[in-house]
Order: sequence, then C-alpha cells, then structure tokens
Amino acid sequence: MPRTAAEVHTDLVLEPRDVKFDWSRLPLHWIPDEPFATHTINVLHLLLPEGERWFTEVFKDALPLITDEQLREEVLGFIGQEAIHAEAHQEVLDHLLGQGLDPRPYVRQIAWLFQRILGPKPHLSPRQRRENIIERVAFVAAIEHFTAFLGNWALNSPGLERAKADPTMLDLLRWHGAEEVEHRSVAFDLLVHLDRGYGRRIRGMVLGGPLLVHLWVRGVRYLLAADPELRGRLKPSWRQAWDGAQRGMLPDPIQSLRSGLRYFKVRYHPTQEGSSAQALGYLATSPAARAAAAR
Ligand SMILES: [Fe+2]
Ligand SMILES: [Fe+2]
Repeated sequence: MPRTAAEVHTDLVLEPRDVKFDWSRLPLHWIPDEPFATHTINVLHLLLPEGERWFTEVFKDALPLITDEQLREEVLGFIGQEAIHAEAHQEVLDHLLGQGLDPRPYVRQIAWLFQRILGPKPHLSPRQRRENIIERVAFVAAIEHFTAFLGNWALNSPGLERAKADPTMLDLLRWHGAEEVEHRSVAFDLLVHLDRGYGRRIRGMVLGGPLLVHLWVRGVRYLLAADPELRGRLKPSWRQAWDGAQRGMLPDPIQSLRSGLRYFKVRYHPTQEGSSAQALGYLATSPAARAAAAR
C-alpha cells in the first residue's frame, strides 16, 4: 500500500550525503546568455557557506538543551547535511574566483554579519545564554522556511532546463534543494521544543525575512558589478527579476513574499510546504547523490 505524505516524512532518517562536483568546465554564465538569472541564483553561493556554517554552530549550541531523543537525532542529521552544503557552495565560490570574479569582499561582510552580529555573545549568564540560543534558533527556523521554499522551487523548475542551464549546477541546486525539503521541519520543531511561543517565531521571521531580501539584492548588485565580462554594464532591476520568473528561471517574487507570509499562520508547520516524497525521489536519481552513495 502506498505510504501517505505524513508517513514518508515521519520515517525520514536524515543522512549527510558526501557529494562531489566537478566545476572545471562550469561557464561563468551557467545559464547561457542569462547573466542576471545566473547571478541571482549565484547569490546562494555567496550567502550559504557562512550562513550554513553558522546554522551548524547554533544547532551545536542548542544540543544540550534538547530533551527529546528523536529530535536530537534529527538535529545531528541536520548539522551533518548543512556542513556539507556549506562546503559544496564554497567550492563554487573558489571557482568564481578562478574565473576572475572575486566574491571575497562581499563574503567578508557576510562572515562579519554571522560571526560578529549574530554570533554567540560572551559574558552571558546561563539564563541569558539559553535565551540567546533560542533566539538564534528562531532565526534559523525562519531562514529554513525560505531554503525549503527555494528547494521546492528548484525541484520544480523546468524553466532552467529550457534555458539549458549547466547540468552539474542544476544537480547541485536540486540535491541541496531536496535536502532542504527533506529536513525542512527540524529547525521549526527544535524551536517549538525550546519555546512554543508565537512571539519568538514571528520575531525570527520579522528579522530574517527582510534581511534575506536585503542581502540578496546587494548580492546580485555585487556579482553583476564584479563580473569580468559584464564590467558593470548590466544594472539589476526588479523588472529583470520578474521577467526571469515569468520564464521559469527564477522564483516568482510575489510567490516568495506569499510564502514568507504563510509563516505567520498560527497553525503553520513546515510540512505544509513541499513534498518529502518528491525530495527523496530526486535524491534517488541525483548524479551527485548516487555517486556519494556508491563511494
Ligand atoms: Fe542547506
Ligand atoms: Fe537547511
């Protein structure tokens, strides 16, 4: 008998897949003749190495607060997956540098944000430290709502094939996207385990949502300016973002906003978004995930 979506999700065991990608032949504009769409997606590579390393640090700090054994296992699986995601995107950054696009000034700002502004605070009392950890978990939970939204989009984006996007990059986006859908409940469940309050959850999104949009816009602007072929000739605009979405190469800005607003529903749970069965289906066919499983 086929299993229900809830059964598929409940039975998940989060396993890190030690994927490898070969970027040696990745063109600078890996969606051919679409530098705006290429760099809009490339912002992921700017944000995720620092961001996901920070996620793993927050969750390691939260481990001693967890009193549910199954949740602890899920958190450990989450940490393992995010650590590999960060390294996979780091390799793309290194490749960009080799192609003459230096991402380091922007990445230094992101590192400062995550390590200094959002990092652990010294000299806190045990109670303040617990509060600080839960506050950061709420922030992770809000961002994970968007990573699951983007992952679900990546798994359902035939426009990228139509645009002849590089297949290795597509596999990176979909492998990562599938794992984001797979572990989409962990941060939220951890937050609810530590604090059931609606206020904390909302604060995470009120801070995290606009910050993510701001960093994304800045990232696109940075990449277009630093692109050695464009030399600043292409200026970003919402019109191009809209056009890219209409042609299926980028997520729709309106749908992204609507998705963010769904997080405010009192009865929200991440399982209402995306499909674990579809994510597992992709991971069973992903060239990188299959190669990792065979190693
Ligand atoms: Fe991730
Ligand atoms: Fe994630």
